[in-house]
Amino acid sequence: MAAEHYFSELQSSKMDLGLISVHLRRCYFEFVTSRGVFSKRRLDRGTRLMIESMVLPDKGVLLDLGCGYGPIGIAASVFNPSLHVVMTDTNLRAVKLARINAKRNHVSNIQVFHGSLYDPVDEMFFDSIVSNPPLAAGFRKVIVPLVEGAYNHLNPGGYIQLVVRKSSGGKKIHDLMFSAFGSVETIARGGGYRILLSKRDRTSAVGSHSQA
Ligand SMILES: C[S@@+](CC[C@H](N)C(=O)[O-])C[C@H]1O[C@@H](n2cnc3c(N)ncnc32)[C@H](O)[C@@H]1O
Repeated sequence: MAAEHYFSELQSSKMDLGLISVHLRRCYFEFVTSRGVFSKRRLDRGTRLMIESMVLPDKGVLLDLGCGYGPIGIAASVFNPSLHVVMTDTNLRAVKLARINAKRNHVSNIQVFHGSLYDPVDEMFFDSIVSNPPLAAGFRKVIVPLVEGAYNHLNPGGYIQLVVRKSSGGKKIHDLMFSAFGSVETIARGGGYRILLSKRDRTSAVGSHSQA
């Protein structure tokens, strides 16, 4: 039997609920968490850096891929209520908590889907994709298709923002974003984490892929 991880579809541990209360960009949030989801005791430092510094489109659709209990997508929705936010995760417990947390933080412009990578949103296009990516799930298996798949799921002018850790695959992800998009910039850094942003060309046609 495969070992159980925070990204496994089913979690065998008991759902022992916890609550994280936190201010982010001067807004107050409460997140219900549990054993069996990523960073259940406190907001991850990389997640916090993403929430404090992410660039949000004025309007359109934002995807939080690998949403966990939902902090990034829910914060995006609170900061810009005119966005439609879509969140996805492979972990069914995370999906359940993200739905609970959307209600708890009074956001209604959110959809949460269960599934891997772009499978649950295959027909959709986004103005921004944000993720604190699941490095533990494997660079080739998850991070490469996450970054390369982003290009074809972004509207022209749309952008992907990822949290990376300098000491753990940060350079590899930077190089991967550069080769998929032709450019990458660091928009924030702190505590060993960085937020990397790559933008899809405004002039490129939806559905096409640039060859580096
Ligand atoms: C580092 S955690 C970040 C969770 C949350 N965004 C946060 O910042 O607290 C990565 C998340 O990606 C999910 N995940 C792992 N593999 C995935 C995949 N193939 N497709 C979608 N989500 C995945 C995990 O279950 C986990 O919740």
